[in-house]
Amino acid sequence: MSDELMQLRGEVRKVTEEILRMIAKRRELILKIADIKKRLNLNVVDRSTERFLLSESLKLSEELGLDKDLTKRLVSLLILDSVKIQEQEIGKTQEIGLREIFYTALELQRSGKKIIRLEVGEPDFTAPQEVIDEACRSLREGRAKYLSPYGLYELREAVAQKMNDLFKLDLKPENVLITCGGIMAIRIAIEVLSNLGDEILVPEPAWPLYKQIAEQLSRRYIGLRTEMVNDWTLKNEEIRKSVTATSRVLIINYPNNPTGRALDLSELKRLVEEARDLGLTIISDEVYSGYYYHGERAPSIAQVLDEGYVLVNSFSKMWGMTGYRIGYIIGSKEFIEKAATLLSLMITCVPEFIQRAALKAIEDDEYVKKNVIETKKRIDYMLEKLSKCDLVEVRKPDGTFYLFPKIKIPNFNSSEFALKLLKEHNVAVAPGSGFGNYPQHIRLSAVKPIREIDEGIEKLLQAINQLSS
Ligand SMILES: Cc1ncc(COP(=O)(O)O)c(C=O)c1O
Repeated sequence: MSDELMQLRGEVRKVTEEILRMIAKRRELILKIADIKKRLNLNVVDRSTERFLLSESLKLSEELGLDKDLTKRLVSLLILDSVKIQEQEIGKTQEIGLREIFYTALELQRSGKKIIRLEVGEPDFTAPQEVIDEACRSLREGRAKYLSPYGLYELREAVAQKMNDLFKLDLKPENVLITCGGIMAIRIAIEVLSNLGDEILVPEPAWPLYKQIAEQLSRRYIGLRTEMVNDWTLKNEEIRKSVTATSRVLIINYPNNPTGRALDLSELKRLVEEARDLGLTIISDEVYSGYYYHGERAPSIAQVLDEGYVLVNSFSKMWGMTGYRIGYIIGSKEFIEKAATLLSLMITCVPEFIQRAALKAIEDDEYVKKNVIETKKRIDYMLEKLSKCDLVEVRKPDGTFYLFPKIKIPNFNSSEFALKLLKEHNVAVAPGSGFGNYPQHIRLSAVKPIREIDEGIEKLLQAINQLSS
């Protein structure tokens, strides 16, 4: 081997070691900052400081002739590292979330206790009979072989056609990818649309898995604050003040889990325009689109944009098919090709007999309508019962099957309350702190028979009254 090559390699190793030494030094400084923040009770995350660091780094990188994207990615990873160190140091309290309540409720049920489960985000009805029959028939016919990662052409066609009929669009099967549920669709969308260290912005309160998925993919999750007093409206200023050079994606979820807030078409347009101006790509999670109380379907991102969006939907909630694990993504042909490659590396394909069952489901809109009417009755019943308690403030949802009431007791801690309610009153609810910084709120699911809702809400109100006295 040439001496020169050996020498250069040695120098590269030294420079790499120097970079690592500098990172260790940086971490020492971060620890000192954490100490001060702890003493002064300051927030770990300071977006204006981050923005300044990024812009200064980009200036320097230009002077040095470095690639802008590489600089953004490196600085973003360093910031991510700082946040983790500070959170560990300051001892961020691990709040009890939905998952802990869910498993504790299961455990108690297993031990023989009768638990009223108002925490689960799952319809209590099953798939329509013809869907179950189709799944069984397809399986018996041997439709359980490897398939195209894109999904069955007939199902992709049916999804595109359904959207075209609902919203007068011109989508093609090539714009559709069949996935294992909405959760896989979200994961794939984030992975295709962003790079390591990029920021994923999400209006809160939000489904907790956006954060977990983003962080598992080493993306930076940034929650955008909305408040009940403002009708859970995401303000443009909130987005603008949170955006940095590494912000890449905005995930929106309307009708929203947990607030039940939906956007009308003009609000959706305004939000989309703002996101586009800031260079963000939108992932629109529309898994609750059928649970909409001002029309047949909630407004869709596909009505607002011709391209440059990613839409996620699922058969789970609308057809009671949570355990079938089937959903889909709609996007540009180029996006779908990249997404299909990722899907093929994860699961090869979605099982054919499940896709055949979904093809049957999509034809049955009456089933969705019937269940949505029943769900609305349950929501109204819950609302009426809750309205009798002065300590509960609740907003009427535009869609979904959730309520996200605020409990007006000073220093109310939703995590502690949810655990106590479960253990002492046998009622499970989801703590608000699992959806962002909302410790005053709890999430209630109305997909239970009225008599269970009745008993559950009675016990809930009893516990709230006990706590306030
Ligand atoms: C907002 C939201 N998106 C996506 C999902 C994922 O649903 P699935 O993977 O069952 O389609 C859920 C499930 O609770 C949800 O609440």
